[in-house]
Amino acid sequence: MDVQIYQYDAVVVGAGLAGLAAARELTAAGKKTAVITKLHPLRSHSGAAQGGINAALGADDSTDLHEFDTIKGSDYLADQDCVELMCQGAPETVRWAERMGAVFSRDEKGDIAIRPFGGQSKPRACYAKDRTGLTLLQTIYEQAHREGIEVFDEWYVADIIYKDGKVSGVVGYDIRTSQPAIFNAKVTMFATGGYGRAYKINSNAHANTGDALSIVARKGLPLEDMEFVQFHPSGLGGSGILISEAARGEGGRLYNSEGERFMTKYAPNAMELASRDVVSRAITQEILDGKGVGVNKDAVNIDLTHLDPNIILTKLPELRELAITFLGQDMLKEPIHIAATAHYSMGGIPTNINCQVQKNADGDLVEGFYAAGECSCVSVHGANRLGANSVLEAMFFGRHAGESILKVIDDIELREASIEDAKTMLDELNRVKTSNGLERVPKIREELQNSMTENAGVFRTAESLNKEASIIRDLLDRYKNIRIDDKSNTFNTDLQEAIELEHMLEYSLFIVEGALAREESRGGHFRDDFPTRNDEKFLKHTYAYMDKDYNMTHEYADVTLGKFEVKERTY
Ligand code: FUM
Repeated sequence: MDVQIYQYDAVVVGAGLAGLAAARELTAAGKKTAVITKLHPLRSHSGAAQGGINAALGADDSTDLHEFDTIKGSDYLADQDCVELMCQGAPETVRWAERMGAVFSRDEKGDIAIRPFGGQSKPRACYAKDRTGLTLLQTIYEQAHREGIEVFDEWYVADIIYKDGKVSGVVGYDIRTSQPAIFNAKVTMFATGGYGRAYKINSNAHANTGDALSIVARKGLPLEDMEFVQFHPSGLGGSGILISEAARGEGGRLYNSEGERFMTKYAPNAMELASRDVVSRAITQEILDGKGVGVNKDAVNIDLTHLDPNIILTKLPELRELAITFLGQDMLKEPIHIAATAHYSMGGIPTNINCQVQKNADGDLVEGFYAAGECSCVSVHGANRLGANSVLEAMFFGRHAGESILKVIDDIELREASIEDAKTMLDELNRVKTSNGLERVPKIREELQNSMTENAGVFRTAESLNKEASIIRDLLDRYKNIRIDDKSNTFNTDLQEAIELEHMLEYSLFIVEGALAREESRGGHFRDDFPTRNDEKFLKHTYAYMDKDYNMTHEYADVTLGKFEVKERTY
């Protein structure tokens, strides 16, 4: 098949909240913008965000307090200038969403309703029942569509065109037909979401295979803070499907098999509303101590039966349905089983405060290349993200990326790629499609996910991480011997899953090697063998690089500090 060639001012890869917010800005300003996405935009994982979007709207709240909670929650690893920008912009971001048509739940006075979330000193998660992400995604998609964004959905981007320190577009193919194409663009932006599918128990969509990370890393560019994976405290027992923090925000209590409300031991003040890393560790510790519930004793109970049933019916209807459907447990009548689930990626493609991608720990920039949302690391979450700050980050920084791009796009020359620039992707498609070995993609993926959960999960040690690094290298080796049965060009999901698996294996190595090098415990990264935070050595961002033989090197960059002093973190 001949390679098709497209020309755009801007190409945005990913159609969740961050991608659509940027694309809407660019299109509204008259820039010809393509959005390329593996899924229909309305199936993006942003739609799965249940609990809310933070903004200091309460009478006794302030953006300063929001900043402080975010920085404390991050275990002081977040860059304070970026946090300040985001938190100060949060109220206007929510109003902007409302002006575009998002229907938020209201309080008795008719104002946008706010609920408490973990690690926050005031209620500030604005919500639309327990379907906040979906409400916002529908709104922003409508508005971006109205401005005339061009969407290439069910297209798979497999490479960036990166030469002489500049990204000048992407190479991809149509999943329906395997038609390859080059998209030349003055500016390319990645907004491709997270990478939780590396773990067996996770709350992520099947599409969250972190492709962008590996695509970037293969160019010799760094990934930042990849060791920081967030484990959400409440995934449905057995599957990890998200049961929003809103369940605890509305008053849910956690109990072990002995009926103890165990958070009294771990966070006596904040209790169930301590930050996510603290609550996830507490739940996992109770299970490890043999105080789990359920057939496999691998969950704890969250009890909401003491609440007015109306709260559940009006504010948490989807959570109730999920627990009934997947566990046969009705939270109106009985506690439901939950356990920690891989939920969010704090690390990602490093960017400066304006979302432009950095090529090293010194902060040198890649021309024409931007990233925002979960695939990026700006960094506002540091070592642990607060609930309801990811929807905010995606909306705020997506829009901010659009605005930043508009300031420079007219000065960037469109560089037209040659067919040679598609060669890396075409060779990869050909190599994978013609694989006739003995190994099966689902089997390797399952081994990766099981071992990552076991060895690089809530608790880690040098021993478990070394073991995992060698498992991944072994799986990468076995990957060379895979077999693809489907040789067709039509919706070849066999091929796509194989390509995604190689990405998953590669970025999992970043998680594991970054975790191994970070000999301390901070936020979501907990080392049993280094159980305390070491600011002297590790109040630093990790920048990790991978060579073609999967050897990794690490550089470290200073955290941008500011008005909030680095302190011990207690809840
Ligand atoms: O618990 C939740 O509703 C998830 C929200 C988030 O991750 O921000």
